[in-house]
Amino acid sequence: MTRQDFEEVVKIIGDDPKYRHFIDRIKKDFDDSEHKGIPVAMHAYFIKEGKESIGFCILSLSPLKMRRWEKTFIEEDWKTQNFQIDISSFELMYLYIKPEFRRKGKATQLFNKVIKRSKVLGIKSIYAYVSDTDNAALEFYRKSGAKIIHDFSDETEGISAAFMVWKLE
Ligand SMILES: CC(C)(COP(=O)(O)OP(=O)(O)OC[C@H]1O[C@@H](n2cnc3c(N)ncnc32)[C@H](O)[C@@H]1OP(=O)(O)O)[C@@H](O)C(=O)NCCC(=O)NCCS
Repeated sequence: MTRQDFEEVVKIIGDDPKYRHFIDRIKKDFDDSEHKGIPVAMHAYFIKEGKESIGFCILSLSPLKMRRWEKTFIEEDWKTQNFQIDISSFELMYLYIKPEFRRKGKATQLFNKVIKRSKVLGIKSIYAYVSDTDNAALEFYRKSGAKIIHDFSDETEGISAAFMVWKLE
């Protein structure tokens, strides 16, 4: 992922108040890695309508985070001792389609491209954690073939949340 990709993400989100925090978080990842002189381990994919970019998907390679998830699942007894996450897996960090283009199959189109490209890169699985006050993302992920590893949703709190995986083999 390049600075130019980041600028494109900023443009797509625009002044959407609910998802402005995506920009701050991606910028932090960028700045952290630039200070450490490490290349940004993130891959950005875009979808266009005509000449306009209307959505993006960002995957990242974060072995330490994957190890933390694995440890938590075992410590919390959500999974047995032999539960393992392949640390060379990617994590789906962000997926976003501009509001006026939603429910037209755009995220499906974009995510299919991401899956195809990940297979070419030899990625065996993609993990994701999602937590939101509406169920759009979780419903989208379910429909796109994600296997739910643990569902954290809380109806009384109005929270839709889960940790999941797409197996690409
Ligand atoms: C989640 C999101 C990416 C879906 O994008 P989209 O282009 O509207 O998705 P698609 O049109 O490809 O939808 C495919 C399927 O997902 C499910 N889905 C998508 N949006 C949904 C919603 N709001 N409510 C329930 N199901 C939904 C449906 O099953 C849909 O199929 P259908 O339209 O035939 O019923 C989009 O709503 C978005 O950008 N949300 C804000 C950011 C976000 O939550 N990102 C994910 C976490 S990082």
